[in-house]
Amino acid sequence: MSAPAIKIRITVNGTVHVTDASPTMRLLDFLRNELGLTGAKEGCGGGECGACTVLVDGAPICSCLMVLGSAAERQVTTVEGLGDGAGGLDPVQQAFVEEGAVQCGYCTPGLVMSARALVDSDKELTDEVVRTALAGNICRCTGYKKVVDAVRKVGAAAPDAQATSDHSKEQP
Ligand code: FES
Ligand code: FES
Repeated sequence: MSAPAIKIRITVNGTVHVTDASPTMRLLDFLRNELGLTGAKEGCGGGECGACTVLVDGAPICSCLMVLGSAAERQVTTVEGLGDGAGGLDPVQQAFVEEGAVQCGYCTPGLVMSARALVDSDKELTDEVVRTALAGNICRCTGYKKVVDAVRKVGAAAPDAQATSDHSKEQP
């Protein structure tokens, strides 16, 4: 049974929402059903697949596991909040397109959000670092090589990217 509604203030993609809602509503349900932001997907519903990944204060979280009350007064970014606001893609999204890193696309919003957080972390985007950061995002269609290539491409294009690249062994 959900807790009684209370007033909750939450910022989603830069817009402040003050809503009367149950604090035990899942953040995923609030985003999809109350705000109509359907980019975050429900896969497992239990923190296993990453399809529901959004950023909360810049960190990737499974929105199926976070309740709305825990997201109150925080900044939430969904895949709809990426890009330049005028239809232009975020560099991570653009790299996914260019590398052909999408098949059915169900996992893609979650992967993009995890990748966005990784790129923002300013870590060197070696093969191993990217694979570790995306380990919580499961794709049922294929392997992960094109996804990893896409994320590393964003790192290579960053202004302060190191000229050298690692030579870690590629996996299928
Ligand atoms: S739906 Fe949230 S982790 Fe799978
Ligand atoms: S592209 Fe289909 S689940 Fe990943």
